[in-house]
Amino acid sequence: VKLDTNKLSAQKDGYRFFMEKEIYEQSSVIADTLLGRVTEKEVIFEELDSQLFDGINEIKLCACGTSYHAALTASYMFERYSKVKTSVEIASEFRYREPIMTADTLFVVISQSGETADTLETLKMAKNAGLKTLVICNVDNSSMVRLADATILTRAGVEKGVASTKAFATQVTVFWMLSLYLAQLKQSLMQESIEKQLELLRSIPACVKVEESMHERIKRLSKRYLHGHGFFFIGRDIFFPLALEGALKLKEISYLHAEGYPSGEMKHGPIALADPELFTIALLPEHLLYEKSRSNVEELSARDSTICAISPIEFDKADDFIETKNQKDYMLEFFEMMVAVQLLSLEISVRLGNDVDMPRNLAKSVTVE
Ligand code: G6P
Repeated sequence: VKLDTNKLSAQKDGYRFFMEKEIYEQSSVIADTLLGRVTEKEVIFEELDSQLFDGINEIKLCACGTSYHAALTASYMFERYSKVKTSVEIASEFRYREPIMTADTLFVVISQSGETADTLETLKMAKNAGLKTLVICNVDNSSMVRLADATILTRAGVEKGVASTKAFATQVTVFWMLSLYLAQLKQSLMQESIEKQLELLRSIPACVKVEESMHERIKRLSKRYLHGHGFFFIGRDIFFPLALEGALKLKEISYLHAEGYPSGEMKHGPIALADPELFTIALLPEHLLYEKSRSNVEELSARDSTICAISPIEFDKADDFIETKNQKDYMLEFFEMMVAVQLLSLEISVRLGNDVDMPRNLAKSVTVE
């Protein structure tokens, strides 16, 4: 069969790769995800029966890959905004443990496809143990959607790039909304704080719009990051799961070794690797633990690691600087930095001549164990 390459590139709407198109689409798919769910006063999930949360004292999140990173991000929000004890599990680990599951736990699985074998299995385990279940999913009528008690769809549209981008963005958006929805139910935040959060939520689409100048800058600086003996993406708090996600993106499409690490943990081992061939991608948001994170990066800079800082505040100890805009809140900084790390992986992979959309050895959906 001869591929109609015209048709294929047409689907890319002028972008070089589906992944690039999907990064640029994030603004509009997040707007879809928010649609009808966020007013000036409250979060509404018509698809949820609020009884789902009756008697729930704990949330357990379970997923694989990028969806697992969205789950980790969610755990910070559920504890901070909803004041609900939350734990996160890797599905392939959870299913072979002998986990203690109690009826006061809401079991939440997260999956772009709704078909990942390990995640699906954990959902079955939770159901068999009599837990209430919820799935955050991008595909309606998928196996997980059919099985779970309740579903929230992420509305990211079809994602073609094997490296997930817009699905992750909409998962984190859903979790932010859900943590506020729970805060409403449990009255764990003042109405005024909720309204402030809702305003922030509504500004995500503007904040993830790709700035041409940022993309150009990343394209240029990517040439410095094609070799070396490894990458550390570092961050604190929710910027730690984002660091994990940045490192995963880079591994998936550039085939370079990358790790995500909590900034404050570098001194307990990894800093021994520091030299000019060790690349540190430092997430330095203004509104969350800036001074603490900055001093961790200074320690790496003093040991000659090559530093690429992503921050709204210029940082003289960095070799490269990706400037983000001054956002009002760290959650918005999260979304803007998410775009920056996605673009960085994309441009490194392009320079290395790799197949960005179909990286070797990987599949979009893993339906075998
Ligand atoms: C595969 C994909 C990843 C994805 C993971 C989980 O490994 O390559 O991009 O994050 O599966 O997929 P799911 O559909 O459950 O989110």
